[in-house]
Amino acid sequence: AARLLRHQQLQVLSKAGLASKSGNANTKAVVLGASGGIGQPLSLLMKESPLIGHLSLYDIAHTPGVAADLSHMNTRAKVTGHLGKDQLHEALEGAHVVIIPAGVPRKPGMTRDDLFNTNASIVRDLIDACATACPEALIGIIANPVNSTVPIAAEVLKAHGVYDPKRLFGVTTLDVVRANAFIAEKKGIDPQQMNVPVIGGHAGVTIMPLISQATPSVKFDPETLDKLTKRIQDAGTEVVNAKAGAGSATLSMAYAGARFAFSLLRGLNGEKNVIECSFVESDVTEASYFSTPLLLGKNGIEKNLGLGELNEYEQKLLEKGLPELISSIKKGEDFVRQTY
Ligand code: NAD
Ligand code: LMR
Repeated sequence: AARLLRHQQLQVLSKAGLASKSGNANTKAVVLGASGGIGQPLSLLMKESPLIGHLSLYDIAHTPGVAADLSHMNTRAKVTGHLGKDQLHEALEGAHVVIIPAGVPRKPGMTRDDLFNTNASIVRDLIDACATACPEALIGIIANPVNSTVPIAAEVLKAHGVYDPKRLFGVTTLDVVRANAFIAEKKGIDPQQMNVPVIGGHAGVTIMPLISQATPSVKFDPETLDKLTKRIQDAGTEVVNAKAGAGSATLSMAYAGARFAFSLLRGLNGEKNVIECSFVESDVTEASYFSTPLLLGKNGIEKNLGLGELNEYEQKLLEKGLPELISSIKKGEDFVRQTY
């Protein structure tokens, strides 16, 4: 009966894209910022996954409680909790995948860039620890502003001589998840079957949905297309406003973050055709970091699948988003040059 139940759970999870039966019991995954609004549900989903042997939870608050709670789930992953800077190194040692949702979220009226002053140094210092404790780990950064925190992480890893552009990712999966949800809803398609690439960065006009490349293929009149595109670009703000001061997206982000972490792990396990959009170092456009669909594998990025064919509307989105993206990247790089 237990085996049947597990089989049924796996079927549900694999339909949600959240599980694979071919897990590696030795795989260590780390969540930095594990006690937060994203960190807790993300850790819950990761504890549920047979892809993970050791789930290591780090935060500056509450990790003993979160770890004790999750450790009572009768799923494979061993859970350890690590609290405060003194325990950061042990939390990271031997990690294969590190996911970073540590940092403050927006309140209504703020842009993601308004978080820079607080979150830039949090990411810088966490990546500094990764550089010594787990230089070969695949690192996924959720903390905003992603358009700047990823270049910050790259500069810190470069300073340690351990930067590998195939192993550092800005997590933009939530943009894809939202595009899939909104478009499937409009067309009455099963949202699990929908796949819309979203390229660029992760803030306002830098978020560029490629609806012409959606599968299954969908068509909209120009006005609806424009409204949908803007809704995808502003979806984070939609949640920030609905939460009215209590933070930004956490639950849908945990879902998206888990999907991304599992895709990294499935690639590491040698699974074929694992593709995710993510914000990475890139020579596809003038911006030195850019999100496009990536083929994932044993070393992180196996292949950047590029932009594909953009229609005129999408070409304009690209032109409009690039200047802000380029300046946010520079802001992140300058921050490390000035403070590290
Ligand atoms: P939250 O405030 O609920 O949780 C943040 C957690 O980070 C807290 O538990 C806090 O103790 C911890 N933390 C703070 N400083 C730390 C440090 N130095 N080391 C380790 N942990 C530390 O916030 P949240 O809602 O979970 O959001 C976290 C971040 O994720 C925000 O920056 C938010 O903007 C971002 N975010 C990104 C996306 C995306 O699509 N990439 C989506 C949603 C939110
Ligand atoms: C999101 O897209 O939901 C996140 O980036 C959080 C935010 O500030 O909007």
